[in-house]
Amino acid sequence: MKPDLILSLPSVPTPYAVLGSPINHSLSPAMQQAAFDHLGIEARYYRIAVDEEGLERAVGRLRQVPFGGWNCTIPNKMRMYELCDRRAESAEQFRAVNTVMNDGGKLVGHNTDGVGWSRALREAFGRGPDELRILLLGAGGAGRAIATQALLEKCPLLIIANRKAGRALELVNHLQGQFSTGLLARTARNLRPIGWRDEELAAAMKEADVVVNATSAGLDPQSPPVLPARLLPAGVLIFDTVYGAGCVKFRQEAEAAGAKWSDGLGMLLHQGAAAFSLWTGREAPLNIMRKALESAFSASRG
Ligand SMILES: NC(=O)c1ccc[n+]([C@@H]2O[C@H](COP(=O)([O-])OP(=O)(O)OC[C@H]3O[C@@H](n4cnc5c(N)ncnc54)[C@H](OP(=O)(O)O)[C@@H]3O)[C@@H](O)[C@H]2O)c1
Repeated sequence: MKPDLILSLPSVPTPYAVLGSPINHSLSPAMQQAAFDHLGIEARYYRIAVDEEGLERAVGRLRQVPFGGWNCTIPNKMRMYELCDRRAESAEQFRAVNTVMNDGGKLVGHNTDGVGWSRALREAFGRGPDELRILLLGAGGAGRAIATQALLEKCPLLIIANRKAGRALELVNHLQGQFSTGLLARTARNLRPIGWRDEELAAAMKEADVVVNATSAGLDPQSPPVLPARLLPAGVLIFDTVYGAGCVKFRQEAEAAGAKWSDGLGMLLHQGAAAFSLWTGREAPLNIMRKALESAFSASRG
């Protein structure tokens, strides 16, 4: 839906939405609507096409209807952080907002991406960030959220590689600053950037238990996988934040090399479930959401 239509929406059932651009591919509406319906909550979840430039105006309209809350996806998470009236600790930690609660007219920003990743990782491999040495590929928005969550959960080793090396260094410096004092200070010493070269990546993989792909390299099914299979040590765990056609080749090559692999659908599910609980104060019906997500995903692939 275009933002122009927001004001024509009824306020009952309570409207919710995901705001992004592009947005037509988003699986969030199927997953969230199934959860509302299952619990008998009168709510309707929409998909709204809006980018950073149009976000402020769209948010003004969402306030007017009023919406109960919304999710933000690419490219709106940082701008939404600025537009909130209040921010929860998670939003401050990530300096980005993916979930907004409308609390009696005051917009409260949260971020459930980190916790969504951590829960999905634990579900996929039976171990969480506190028990895994991590090689993180990518220092964009997702990489930043994952690195922050990994350190919040005291991961024993975090190595960050990014194609443009300066960005990995920048992220490490930022994290060093953020985690240099207090309870988490110990973790930051086990944090370092490496260059995007085969030898460095191969050496880092020997130190790591899990490789987390937070690059958008896999989004295009025609491009080569983010890492060549020959670099992967047997038995390494791979958590790919990408899902869909783009990660098929990487999965096949990784599994042939003896790696255990998981895609990003679990992360999408768990960040959505955490958002649902914030909005409703109810436990998210995880299995219902998972089923809805999987069938919307299958349908989207034809
Ligand atoms: N499953 C989920 O719920 C979930 C949630 C959030 C994000 N994600 C996924 O996370 C990925 C990144 O999203 P984002 O928001 O972080 O995007 P972003 O801020 O635009 O960052 C893109 C990242 O990908 C890297 N990159 C792009 N093409 C590459 C290539 N061919 N080879 C190596 N690195 C490449 C970029 O490196 P440079 O800095 O060198 O350009 C940068 O680190 C996307 O694939 C997205 O689908 C999944």
